[in-house]
Amino acid sequence: MKLLYAPASPFVRKVLVFIKELGLEDKVELIKVSSTVIDPNAELAASNPVAKIPTLVMDNGKGLFDSRVITAYLDTLASSPSFYPAAGEARWDVLRMEATADGLMDAAVNNRYERGLRPADKQWDAWSDGQVKKVHGALKALDSEAAAFGDRIDAGIVGAACACDYLDFRYPDIGWRESYPALGAWYAKFSERKSMQETQPPS
Ligand code: BEZ
Repeated sequence: MKLLYAPASPFVRKVLVFIKELGLEDKVELIKVSSTVIDPNAELAASNPVAKIPTLVMDNGKGLFDSRVITAYLDTLASSPSFYPAAGEARWDVLRMEATADGLMDAAVNNRYERGLRPADKQWDAWSDGQVKKVHGALKALDSEAAAFGDRIDAGIVGAACACDYLDFRYPDIGWRESYPALGAWYAKFSERKSMQETQPPS
């Protein structure tokens, strides 16, 4: 399999952590691509009609995307453990948490594009503020459950860790640990895992 990726993306990070935690490193070739909405990468566009990273090209040549579909697929390839509970309330709790983390990352990445790429005279402060509110909404939800995370590892947990780390990477001034201390305490421990250390974005 091939993973088309860019190391700064938090969605890519989630997939990379899955690959390491599930012991799939030998099965996935990493191919770094540079792609933007304005100038999409041709190899990426050939496997994903909306040309977004991450995209996994399976051994049968078909592309898989987005990150949640890729992680669900990778989970089926690992003998154990599964990062998605099979059924019941536990399954929906993990999927809800994964969606919360993805929502945080979406808002943070969208706002970074707005602030980093759009010309200053075209930036829309209210839109940007709305994205930051979404980030805080997700942080509040994760923080309210963080005391019970313990040593759990699943798709929700990996997503939450990658979301927190993206804030450290691109929003160092947001100071999320002060406002969300339970999440900060959990993250301090989880971020020591080898899979997290080895997938840090470039500085
Ligand atoms: C970033 O540089 O923050 C970034 C790069 C690719 C995708 C998402 C975010």
